[in-house]
Amino acid sequence: MSNVMKILGIETSCDETAAAVVENGVKVLSNVIASSVDLHAKTGGVVPEVAAREHIRQITPVVDQAMEEANVGWDDIDAIAVTHAPGLVASLLIGINTAQTLSYIYKKPLIPIHHIAGHIYANFLERDEKPAFPILVLTVSGGHNELVLLKGHYQFEVIGETLDDAAGEAFDKVARLLGLGFPGGPAIAKAAEKGNSKAIDFPRPMLDEKNKYNFSFSGLKTAVRTHITDITEGRDNDPGLQDNTINDIAASFQAAVIDVLSDKLVSAAREFGVKEVYLAGGVSANQLLRQTVSDKLKGKILLIYPKQLIYCTDNAAMIAGAAYFCPRKVDFRKIEAHSQFPLET
Ligand code: KG4
Ligand code: ZN
Repeated sequence: MSNVMKILGIETSCDETAAAVVENGVKVLSNVIASSVDLHAKTGGVVPEVAAREHIRQITPVVDQAMEEANVGWDDIDAIAVTHAPGLVASLLIGINTAQTLSYIYKKPLIPIHHIAGHIYANFLERDEKPAFPILVLTVSGGHNELVLLKGHYQFEVIGETLDDAAGEAFDKVARLLGLGFPGGPAIAKAAEKGNSKAIDFPRPMLDEKNKYNFSFSGLKTAVRTHITDITEGRDNDPGLQDNTINDIAASFQAAVIDVLSDKLVSAAREFGVKEVYLAGGVSANQLLRQTVSDKLKGKILLIYPKQLIYCTDNAAMIAGAAYFCPRKVDFRKIEAHSQFPLET
């Protein structure tokens, strides 16, 4: 057997139908993503049934395209990887069912991958350097917000998590309050560029000693809502918020979230004595987060984030990549879907 391993990855946990072929966990041969985000923008958030219907329409052409762009046939594929948790169950099932069927027909091992493990392994895509374990990872997506110690390949220890909203969820909810559309993260970041981050002193919930590596963003979201109500209350012909007010709120909110994320990440990195820090999940696309963490690490600890923006948000290359390092191969009949499932070793 050659030492080249090609894995087909499938990801359908939310509103992206994605398939990719990745060699040895690192080399991306194809990475196809069909997003139904435009449909969800109309409703200001993902509607599970709409997402599931779109997956059904897209999954077969997306897999075909991933195989074609990678220039491979089924004989070249060594295994099939699929996201099994966490996510919208109806959406997950479409990816899982497709992977099961392909695994059965083409007699390929099936590797179930945790979505957040995928996000973590997005940091390895297109990367030549060897990792220096242990690594501290900040996972910041729409549904997840954790501090994870990666002690070795596929050895995760969750040292902190959000007690309520995830950072991406907070971005999405505040964007909705500001009328900035969905998804909120990129919209807030764009508005913030034109705003003053010191205009409003929003709370920075650092929590007590017991929760020093946990997060909480729902109070911050409430503070933004109260601030908006204070401005608009009592207006007769409510003209809404002015653009410069929106930009200032976006910038001040973003600064508060990023202060908390970066402070906790950097102090945990020092406490655990890691040499490398990774950012993972949709919010890792945020330029200010990257810059702030990098400034606070002062060059003493290496900061890594996915090589391309498309590897930050949901994609299947990260699932195929993680599968290469994942020790688990299962009988395709035994795979399960979970809306919530802890990141496990
Ligand atoms: O990882 P992801 O694509 O999906 C989940 O697993 O949830 O993350 C999506 C989240 C959304 O909440 C979106 O608003 C946020 O990532 N996001 C950002 C940025 N780009 C995406 N948040 C802040 N700044 C960004 N540039
Ligand atoms: Zn994700």
